[in-house]
Amino acid sequence: MNKSYLSQPHLLGIKYITKEDIELILSTADNFKEVINRPIKKVPTLRDVTIANLFFENSTRTRISFELAEKRLSADVLNFSSSTSSVKKGESLLDTVNNILSMKVDMVVIRHSAPGTPTFLSNHIDANIINAGDGTHEHPTQALLDAFSIREKVNSFNGLNVCIFGDIIHSRVALSNIFCLQKLGANVAVCGPPTLIPRFLPKLGVKIFYKVKEALNWCDVANVLRIQLERQDIKYIPSLREYSLYYGINQEILDSLDKEIIIMHPGPINRGVEIDSDVADSHQSIILQQVENGVAVRMAVLFLLAGNSGSPGISNFN
Ligand code: CP
Repeated sequence: MNKSYLSQPHLLGIKYITKEDIELILSTADNFKEVINRPIKKVPTLRDVTIANLFFENSTRTRISFELAEKRLSADVLNFSSSTSSVKKGESLLDTVNNILSMKVDMVVIRHSAPGTPTFLSNHIDANIINAGDGTHEHPTQALLDAFSIREKVNSFNGLNVCIFGDIIHSRVALSNIFCLQKLGANVAVCGPPTLIPRFLPKLGVKIFYKVKEALNWCDVANVLRIQLERQDIKYIPSLREYSLYYGINQEILDSLDKEIIIMHPGPINRGVEIDSDVADSHQSIILQQVENGVAVRMAVLFLLAGNSGSPGISNFN
C-alpha cells in the first residue's frame, strides 16, 4: 500500500477534516481489518512510535480499542488515567501533558470532559493529537467506526437516511456522526424529546422528529444513544421510565414497520431504557460489529496521522 496522508496533523473533530480524509481513513481501515483477521495480527508499522492514551473521563470501548490498535501496530503505549495521577494533587492539564511529552511521546490520544481540550493541546504541544471524546463536542473515531460499519451493510451513503435517537444535546457521538454522514452524502435526522434536541440542528440541515414511529418509518439506519444522566444538572425528562415508554426502541415497534432497518448503538447500553435487550441482541443490530470495527478504524487513523508527521518507523504494513 502507498503511503498516504490526511489533510490535518491532528484528528480534533470530523468538522475539521474533508470527505477525502474520511474516505481515506475508511479505505485504510479495510486493509487493517484484513490484517487483524490474519493468524498473526501484529504489523511493525508504528515500531519506534510512542503513543500516550490520556483518559480524564471513564471509557471502556474507546480506551481498550485504541490500546489494541496501537499494540497491533507495534507502537510503544503509555496509559494514563486521571483518577490515579498527580492531577488529583492539583497538577494542570498542560503541565501533566508536557511532563508526559518530555519522555519523548509522538502521539496523544485524549478523552476529557471539557469541550475543546484536544484543540487546546494541539495549540500548545508538539505531538499529533487524537480526540477520543471531548465533553459534549465531538467523538470523531466513533463516527468513523460508525460510518465504516454502515458502509459494510449498504451500497452507498448517497440518499441513505440515518436517524440518531435519544439524548442529542449531551452527545458528542451525535455531532460527529452528523458531520461525518453528511460529508459522505447521507441524510441525517434526530429523534427525541424537544428538551434533548439542540436548537441549532436545523441550521446544519438535520431533520427533526419528535415521534419515534415517524422517525423509524423515515430511516434506513437507527443509531440509538443513551440518556447521559451524568451530564444533566437539571431534569430534561420527567423519568427514565417515561422516556423508555415514549422513546425506547423495542421489538414491537420495529415489527410494525414495513421494512427492516439497521440498529446501532455506540455503547454503553442501558438495556430496557433507550433500547430493549431483544433489539440490541437481534440480527438487525450491528452493535458488536461497531466495536470490532473500532480497532481497524483507529489503526487507520494512527497510521495516517503518524505518516503525516513523518514519525519514524512508518513502513508498508503488508
Ligand atoms: N462509545 C464509547 O465512547 O464508549 P466508551 O465510553 O466505553 O469509550
